[in-house]
Amino acid sequence: MATSGFATQVNETFLLVFAISAVLMIGVTLALLYFVYRYHHTRNAKGTDIHGNMTLEIVWTVIPSILVLGMFYFGWEGYVEMREVPEDALEVVTTGRMWSWFYDYENGVRTDTLYVPISKAIKLNLESQDVLHSYYIPAMMVKQDAVPGGRNYLWFRAEEEGYFQVLCAEYCGDDHAYMYSYIKVLPQAEFDAWYAEQGAALGNVDSKNIPASVKGEQLVETMGCITCHSTDGSERVGSSFKGLYGTSRSVLTAGTERAVVADENYIRRSILEPRADKVKALAGRVMPDHSLSEAELDAIVAYLKTLR
Ligand code: CUA
Repeated sequence: MATSGFATQVNETFLLVFAISAVLMIGVTLALLYFVYRYHHTRNAKGTDIHGNMTLEIVWTVIPSILVLGMFYFGWEGYVEMREVPEDALEVVTTGRMWSWFYDYENGVRTDTLYVPISKAIKLNLESQDVLHSYYIPAMMVKQDAVPGGRNYLWFRAEEEGYFQVLCAEYCGDDHAYMYSYIKVLPQAEFDAWYAEQGAALGNVDSKNIPASVKGEQLVETMGCITCHSTDGSERVGSSFKGLYGTSRSVLTAGTERAVVADENYIRRSILEPRADKVKALAGRVMPDHSLSEAELDAIVAYLKTLR
């Protein structure tokens, strides 16, 4: 379970608090049962009050104080460690929005999966584009809010290779439950190779060698479109991209129903101004605005054409 240094720390603190609570609960229950028996009215027909007992007063003040301060100390120690980021940490800007996460690396690469090298401190600078989200890596036992308009961070050091799930731990709307992402922990050399390769590919994004539909596919993945729009026909918050292009759709334009064909213009408008033509069957759903370049819009249209 020690996938990060924090996991051990959090586990130990939890076990300490749990053990103290368990011992107290059992102790109190036993004392209660004993008193019920010992002071039953058949054995104690007339109650007597006791006034003043310095020893008792001291004992029940000092012992709980020590226990509470002890638990606080371990919690505080862990908290301080979580807020003090090592200076050599790899920084990645992590942005949440309804309902996906994406990552921006220092070399300009953007991904929907967080790639990190093993045993290296990773600092995630958390941002949100819309509402309050919370970045949560259960395996590493770290969690921090992503606040719209604010800056927040968390850091961790992965001690185990593999895939780990990331969840959103703050209810943020219809598809909160689908707002997850993954962390891929790689050996340092593999990470370096991946990072260099991605950085190099970035310089070629506008090259004519990559078909527009492939760029479009990358875009809908990194922008998080596929969180709400499936590409296999399955139903999510928004219409599936599968078979969308070229079909006739019933939309509400300024409250008036009309039929449109999902052609190039319709798709462009739906991305830039999602509220202009609302698909009637999905009238209650909200899609965030996006600002994209002409080339990016072309790429997405080209990709949707391949899903006919
Ligand atoms: Cu984002 Cu819940």
